[in-house]
Amino acid sequence: MSKKIILIGYMGSGKSVIGKFLAQKINLPFIDLDLFIEEKEQKTISEIFKLNGEIYFRKIETMYLNQLLDSKKDFVLSVGGGTPCFGTNIQQINKASEFVFYLQLNAQSLTKRLTTQKGKRPLLTGLQDDKILEDFINKHLFDRNPYYRQAHIILPSDGLSITEIVNKIITFLPSDLFKKKNVIE
Ligand code: S3P
Repeated sequence: MSKKIILIGYMGSGKSVIGKFLAQKINLPFIDLDLFIEEKEQKTISEIFKLNGEIYFRKIETMYLNQLLDSKKDFVLSVGGGTPCFGTNIQQINKASEFVFYLQLNAQSLTKRLTTQKGKRPLLTGLQDDKILEDFINKHLFDRNPYYRQAHIILPSDGLSITEIVNKIITFLPSDLFKKKNVIE
């Protein structure tokens, strides 16, 4: 059985920070797909959007995703908010891993987090105030939910701390496969 754990969810749902803590706790490497793409392309995600457009970004996102899913390596992987929602990515993700978690937050919680982090997210730049941002997130989340909900495990995460979410994820992982490390928190 492969030991790939994959975190999916909307922008701002905490995939990267939770992935990092989880990986540390169960002693697996952590990969953030956005950072992996930035390293390979030697450009930030915002630069790729600006220079080459979203379609190009989606093509290389799928290419790098498949590269990671096809590898024999075990890891915790957090993907971009849009990754599961294009082409057959969600099917490939679910095929490559038995442990696909959707970090589910409502539009209100996401707006609160994203309002200060719009700069590095090309899809959100230009959304002026919180009301406009929340309306956009509400609709976008509605469109994307059918993809996110295909994850093996849906984790309602509103109001939970990072540690609580990580510990919740661990309860779904067979202990003979994933050895929990004692890390000082
Ligand atoms: C995107 C989410 C971003 C990044 C890109 C597009 C999306 O990742 O991949 O800006 O379509 O939701 P995060 O979810 O890590 O912000």
